[in-house]
Amino acid sequence: MAKVLVCVAWPYANSPIHLGHVAGSLLPPDLFSRYRRLRGDEVLMVSGSDQHGTPITVRAEKEKVTPLEVAERYHEINKKAIEDLDIEFSLFTKTHTENHFRVVSDVFLDLLQKGCLYEKSTLQYYCPSCQKFLPDRYVEGICPACGNEKARGDQCERCGKTFEGGELKEAKCVHCITVPELRETKHHFIKLSAFQERLIDWVKDKQHWRPSVQLFTQNWLEAGLEDRPITRDMEWGVPVPLPGQDGKVIYVWFDAVIGYLSASMEWAQRSGDPDAWKAYWTDPQVRSYYFLGKDNIPFHTIIWPAILMGRGGLNLPYDVPANEFLTFKGDKVSKSRGTTIDIPSLLKRYEPDIIRYYVAANMPENKDADFSWEDFEAKINNELVATLGNYYHRVLSFTYKHFGEVPEFKGASEDREEMMSAIREARDAAEDALDGCHFKRALKTIMDLAQFGNRHFDSVGPWALIKKDREQCGSALYLHLMLVKALAVLSSPYLPRSSERAWKFLGQVGTLQQAGWSAVEAELPAHQKLNEPKPLFSKIEVEKNEGDSVFGGFETLNLKAGRILKARDHPNADSLLLLEVDIGKTIQVVAGLKAYYTKEEMEGREVVVVSNLKPAKLRGEQSQGMLLAADAGEIVKLVSPPSGSRPGDAVSSGLKQSDRVIEFKDFQKLILRVAEVSGDHLDVGRAVKAKGPTELKGRKVVVYLPSEDAEEALVLSSERGPVTVDDAMPGGATVR
Ligand code: MF3
Ligand code: ZN
Repeated sequence: MAKVLVCVAWPYANSPIHLGHVAGSLLPPDLFSRYRRLRGDEVLMVSGSDQHGTPITVRAEKEKVTPLEVAERYHEINKKAIEDLDIEFSLFTKTHTENHFRVVSDVFLDLLQKGCLYEKSTLQYYCPSCQKFLPDRYVEGICPACGNEKARGDQCERCGKTFEGGELKEAKCVHCITVPELRETKHHFIKLSAFQERLIDWVKDKQHWRPSVQLFTQNWLEAGLEDRPITRDMEWGVPVPLPGQDGKVIYVWFDAVIGYLSASMEWAQRSGDPDAWKAYWTDPQVRSYYFLGKDNIPFHTIIWPAILMGRGGLNLPYDVPANEFLTFKGDKVSKSRGTTIDIPSLLKRYEPDIIRYYVAANMPENKDADFSWEDFEAKINNELVATLGNYYHRVLSFTYKHFGEVPEFKGASEDREEMMSAIREARDAAEDALDGCHFKRALKTIMDLAQFGNRHFDSVGPWALIKKDREQCGSALYLHLMLVKALAVLSSPYLPRSSERAWKFLGQVGTLQQAGWSAVEAELPAHQKLNEPKPLFSKIEVEKNEGDSVFGGFETLNLKAGRILKARDHPNADSLLLLEVDIGKTIQVVAGLKAYYTKEEMEGREVVVVSNLKPAKLRGEQSQGMLLAADAGEIVKLVSPPSGSRPGDAVSSGLKQSDRVIEFKDFQKLILRVAEVSGDHLDVGRAVKAKGPTELKGRKVVVYLPSEDAEEALVLSSERGPVTVDDAMPGGATVR
């Protein structure tokens, strides 16, 4: 029995975790830890919410709430999502705790005292119009290394390069797009240069690291390490534990990596033995594994090891199995890129085992992996359901029906040997893969074994054999029950819930988890009663508009260009007009625009119509659609279709249009706004990115916002151009 320390990158508490987190850093350590625990090892697996730094404050400013509120809200959401996904941490804590503040301050002061930190004057971005320093994510610009236009002040997410003040090209303040200046300020620096030789020496024997991790680290080390500032001019975070440092906090990355240590200490404290963490950190025999996404590599193979070397007496990472990215049509899956697949919402629709299977089968281990709903559906239905689920159910239900218990094995020893060696071979291969953190490969081995089971079952043909020779059939089924059990054990790190259920169907005593890995080969007692099996997995159907894009809400609409043919007064309501509108066919619309337009102004006017609203009777008259109009209180203006449109032209913004009817109350939930086109972005009362045509600079267009705080807006448009509205309408005005 060995001890293992499993450290998992701390997700920022600024948004719900999504599939990218699960694929990149959360599921792999859970697979590894579950496997090691089944083998009898003692695993300490820690992580928590990364609650400091500009990712949190930027979000809080957008929402106009305190950083604490954001940090606590998403901590709760993410902690629950992680639990619901059956990811088993020894402790999933957070960085905004007394314990963590103390440990970070201790490490800081210890390094300072040992001469690893020093204070010096440096130039940092400063926004003259916001009148504040712009640490990290407060600036965006072009990465000098890879040309990425969305690089942040401290790091380019695309190529992983980290920056100092002044390195970005065309840097802009994220608040006001002002070009920042460089101002002098004092900060504490970590003397990375002093660790260069020791780090080079340390990585020498890391042949077991993934090639990408080795390469990235070597390149960094070869480029030469520069000292880096580890404090920032901002209020939110761990205060610098020295006098005269008001307004300065410790850099989020220095703070967060120390979380591995502080969380281990917190775990020990909670377990009743405050020194228990030491067994995992100071015994050189104990290996520590760090699971993370590739953008986190330098912080774990260079900066954290340097901090640990500086402090002394603590184990350095043994392995850092970093994953590549899960992408969505080639883009990194992340909230900021507008391709959210967040875990709380996925868990509402799918069992945790379903999500775990998909992520493991599509894990970005050696290269980026692309996510699509089609692939999700295909992997679940064609692999998990059709291969593993199907095999379990065929064996269990047939045996239950004809025997009700584990039959006796009275067959030939070659038959038994054939089955057992298939099981042992797969187990050995799975062990080999899991020991080396090759999770996709291990899963493939297990699925191949299930496939072998299906073929073998077919060749036995129990449905015919049972009629000819019950005893021989029982012997064959015995071997298949052994295989079912083996599959349940081998797959249980991936599919913990369904494995336990299969275990129960076999009538096993206790839990699979208690039985452990050696249960792969253990005999099944003849005559053990079986429990009535139910299918373990069922096919899923992904709804077609299940957000291939964040603009899924828009895709529930069917918008058409139209022309008003006739306008007359509503017979029963003074404020309403009855309109005949051509949208390729003629429909009647009841409109409440009498206060703003005369009938004469209306007739002949071009409009944009919501054509798939459920028809309604308004004061006795049918209304079969709705005209989009912008409303700024005093002024209300009809919006205009792209110039040159013909009645009936789709206004689909290049997306799918719904062919389903929607209720008015669902339409009301959609956020449509007036936006001013300004440069390459839009102003909807605040600046947002634009998807769609933006060449009409200074003009007012209509956009769809997926949510009130969305960072990207969809411009309503057809191939002819954008939907426009009178320039008197202010950006941000409601369209309905
Ligand atoms: N919060 C960081 C991210 O999401 C990861 C922090 S890992 C830690 O990219 F080591 F600093 F904890
Ligand atoms: Zn600014």
